Amino acid sequence: MKPQKLTIVGGGSTYTLGMINSLIAEKAAFPLSKITFYDIDEQRQASNAKATEILLREAYPEVEEFVYTTDKETAFSDADFFFIQIRTGGLPMRERDEQVPLSYGCVGQETCGAGGMAYGLRSIGDMITLVNDIRHFAPDAWILNYTNPAAIVAEALQREFPHDNRILNICDMPAAIMVSYAQLLGCEIWDLVPEYFGLNHFGWFTKVRNREGVDLTDEIKRIILEEGISAVDPEIADDPSWQATFKNMQTMLKDNPQYLPNTYLQYYLYPEKMVEKEDIANTRARQVINGREKRVFSLNERIIAAGTTANERLHADIHGRYMVRVAASLAYNRGETYLVIVPNDGAIPNIQNDAMVEVPAALTNDGPKRFAVGTIPTFQKALIEGQLGYEKLVVDAWFSGDRQTLVNALTLNRTVVDVPKAQQIVDELLRVNGDYLPQFH
Ligand code: G6P
Ligand code: MN
Repeated sequence: MKPQKLTIVGGGSTYTLGMINSLIAEKAAFPLSKITFYDIDEQRQASNAKATEILLREAYPEVEEFVYTTDKETAFSDADFFFIQIRTGGLPMRERDEQVPLSYGCVGQETCGAGGMAYGLRSIGDMITLVNDIRHFAPDAWILNYTNPAAIVAEALQREFPHDNRILNICDMPAAIMVSYAQLLGCEIWDLVPEYFGLNHFGWFTKVRNREGVDLTDEIKRIILEEGISAVDPEIADDPSWQATFKNMQTMLKDNPQYLPNTYLQYYLYPEKMVEKEDIANTRARQVINGREKRVFSLNERIIAAGTTANERLHADIHGRYMVRVAASLAYNRGETYLVIVPNDGAIPNIQNDAMVEVPAALTNDGPKRFAVGTIPTFQKALIEGQLGYEKLVVDAWFSGDRQTLVNALTLNRTVVDVPKAQQIVDELLRVNGDYLPQFH
């Protein structure tokens, strides 16, 4: 197995050190000879990088070269794989995305609803620029993207780079849910084979089998209905907000036991409850700023001061491990099945071909080969089509700079619906995001 060279774009992210732990845990599957960090924020990246240097020396000496830089040519010239995890505007803008819709009584969430629209509009430009710059230096490298809102980013990249079949958008949420299924069943996530369909952050597990082909779906549903389900991946297990979200999966399943829901459906199916529980002064962004962000950067400081990771309990998480295994399957032609975001192209025949859908696909060095899902029921089809209309209009609006298109988008989004509210929220979000969105001036 030829070792790979990896560039992480967004080296300053709060997820970077966790990703390094995942690369260490998966080094047999995805061996690396070089790791590069790229970020526009030199300071945040340097903190992660200095801790990473120590961690690699202690736990991954096979990595011959580790570089961190704010120079695109250095970062992009010599890489087989790119993992992209950027957040345009950072957590402070995430907080605005959450607060503005809430102040109009609508769901305020990072990727769902009006907040997701604003975040999407900010992400599209940076992602298009990044992919163009990466392709300039690394025309054949794999680009794996985690940047949110993945549904909108995937749609925009598909339009801008329709012939580039080495860009793959991924989300860890279905995998994080499967980690919890595995715990309920007393097995490992990697023992489970899912059938799933939907849009990103908007989908359902229709079946979960084990590798022997035994259908475990009813057993999972029974346990969730009787005992509930909790977040168990180490990254989210201690987080009250994530535990509340996982608890809601039981409510969703009770209210509609047909399929196993993605956690994010709570925002679309229970918008009133989701608004009620929010404190506008302490939305999720503020919790992450006071929680994960502080935790990660003080962990870095302790590692750097001690010159060793020996005093710390570091762990891989599903967020990183899923991405790394996806990369390994692509690099070494493993043909393993993962849930990824790809053009529909008939996988769901009663949804338009040019939807970017989240479905299982076999991953080879020729790219993802998605499996046929088949015709889906009217209820899910109609929900998906409304949401898809919203996503497509947001991308249309980014290219055209047309405000009315954004109002139409939010009119379709189940977390807004009401036209006067849509108009007010669009105007407020465009005002707050003015510097990022010159096309709307
Ligand atoms: C899950 C989703 C990601 C999202 C993250 C937010 O992992 O799949 O798309 O960014 O949750 O988590 P946070 O803890 O930052 O609210
Ligand atoms: Mn996600």
